[in-house]
Amino acid sequence: MLILGIETSCDETGVALYDSERGLGQGAVPLAGLLAHTLHSQVELHDEYGGVVPELASRDHIRRLLPLIGVVMTRAGTDLSRVSAVAYTEGPGLAGALLVGASVGASLAYGLGVPAIRVHHLEGHLLSPLLSPVPPRFPFVALLVSGGHTQLMRVSNVGKYALLGETQDDAAGEAFDKTAKLLGLPYPGGPALAQLARSGRGGRFRLPRPMIASGDLDFSFSGLKTAVLLLTRQHEMDAQTRADVAYAFEEALVEVLVAKCIAAIATSGLGQLVVAGGVGANTRLRAALDAAGQRKGFRVCYPPLEFCTDNGAMIALAGALKMQDAEFRIQDPERQDLGLRIEDLGRSRSFTVKPRWDL
Ligand code: KG4
Ligand code: ZN
Repeated sequence: MLILGIETSCDETGVALYDSERGLGQGAVPLAGLLAHTLHSQVELHDEYGGVVPELASRDHIRRLLPLIGVVMTRAGTDLSRVSAVAYTEGPGLAGALLVGASVGASLAYGLGVPAIRVHHLEGHLLSPLLSPVPPRFPFVALLVSGGHTQLMRVSNVGKYALLGETQDDAAGEAFDKTAKLLGLPYPGGPALAQLARSGRGGRFRLPRPMIASGDLDFSFSGLKTAVLLLTRQHEMDAQTRADVAYAFEEALVEVLVAKCIAAIATSGLGQLVVAGGVGANTRLRAALDAAGQRKGFRVCYPPLEFCTDNGAMIALAGALKMQDAEFRIQDPERQDLGLRIEDLGRSRSFTVKPRWDL
């Protein structure tokens, strides 16, 4: 069964085609089912504004989406008539941007007479590590660190997620982006700040580790940004000082994330940690988590870098898993219903978007 995946929740237009027989059959690895995927990033478009401009994002998605679907079909050597379902991101995200993917996805599904599968963006991120060459097995602990979310979850199966802890204010990616702005770095701030931190020296500044000893699995990052603001006022911000501050910020944030991951593994009793979301691309975080995993005896699994940030492949995979799961779900009322209702598997004339949507 071929599932087309569409992601337009923010500033990336992602499209992918997934073959569930190839990827989800007995003994297969999910990555084998990914026939083709492509992405257009709007980073250059928003660069001069220092952040995502929602209206520009929506317009660009409109321009890009249909041509990108064409690219994916050509790369996969097939055409739309062979598509068995269309999965699209229903939320959370920017309303206008979501509407582009949802209207195209739902219309395509209706026109083709196939199911439309509504996918929660964070569920896409949570399942994206299955696209690793050596995928994790359920159950696992997931650290979801993106621009809008910082959560620790227990993932027992597709659609079976329990929140263990989350940020009380800024998300980790948001903290990176805001701090980067304070240091005069271009959007998106995360990668730019990480790059600057490489030339920073340790030991010059020590920033707080918010909530590190709170005894729960929650986070708070807004104070870190304020601490950086104070430093920028107290010091002459020459190039080396900016790099040293970037280093100290990254060090503090990574230390908190790692400490909470260790605690989540300990309280859940599970042996696998999966890292998803854009901040999962951060090499210092990866090195620190790998070291912690070795010390404490748990396995850490990351999606390939291209599937860490927003992409269409994770939406196509989530759609394929939901299709596969649908009948099973009827028999198991304990399963949460995240975006897929059984009636959606038939033709639907309507669609919705959910800019705000708790997982
Ligand atoms: O998951 P994602 O692509 O989009 C959301 O759903 O939010 O995450 C984007 C976030 C941004 O805040 C970006 O600055 C951050 O991930 N990010 C990074 C790195 N690459 C992306 N943060 C730190 N280090 C990186 N290498
Ligand atoms: Zn995302």
